[in-house]
Amino acid sequence: MLFFIDTANIDEIKEAQSLGILAGVTTNPSLVAKENISFHDRLREITSIVSGSVSAEVIATEAEEMIAEGKELASIAPNITVKVPMTADGLKAVKAFSDLGIKTNVTLIFSANQALLAARAGATYVSPFLGRLDDIGHNGLDLVDTIAQIFDIHGIDTQIIAASIRHPQHVTEAALRGAHIATTPLNVIKQLFKHPLTDQGIEKFLADWNNK
Ligand code: E4P
Repeated sequence: MLFFIDTANIDEIKEAQSLGILAGVTTNPSLVAKENISFHDRLREITSIVSGSVSAEVIATEAEEMIAEGKELASIAPNITVKVPMTADGLKAVKAFSDLGIKTNVTLIFSANQALLAARAGATYVSPFLGRLDDIGHNGLDLVDTIAQIFDIHGIDTQIIAASIRHPQHVTEAALRGAHIATTPLNVIKQLFKHPLTDQGIEKFLADWNNK
């Protein structure tokens, strides 16, 4: 399973990149709005730092407008993936992007059938939102499991991005259940490498070394 960072913040992207584990970036309109910047300028900046997939979401809701907007986003850099919401218009747009060779990430996936439809429309990635399902008393991780099984049975090569990740257990379980990618905020990435026994171990090694 690969790691993407879920942010539009340049410092966070640089910090994750410096760790040597960053394979891509996902953004969404809420994350971009927090930054108070020009979206296209920020995408140029991000794609100059990260060579992997950078998801940029369309704001339009009608297929024709989504296609026009997505083409503009895709023209910013070759590693832009157009992020499209899971709607009927979104599916039409995904099919059009797929025919044009433009990569897509179908977002706001909350059921296996939505993921299957997106894959059949030609989506490169589907993004099931784990945390938001957990928030309403469902099990987001079970959805990853089901999608992974269906894609496996039917030989579908659309990749599963575990999204809306809230804590390290989401990451471990998403990997076990077959997600290809986890897109996580920086604070979760940081939690992944921290362990109190590692810190205590280093402290003890250094103390022993200094007392020799
Ligand atoms: C993924 O692509 C989304 O941007 C993101 O993971 C949503 O997470 P949230 O539910 O924490 O907003």
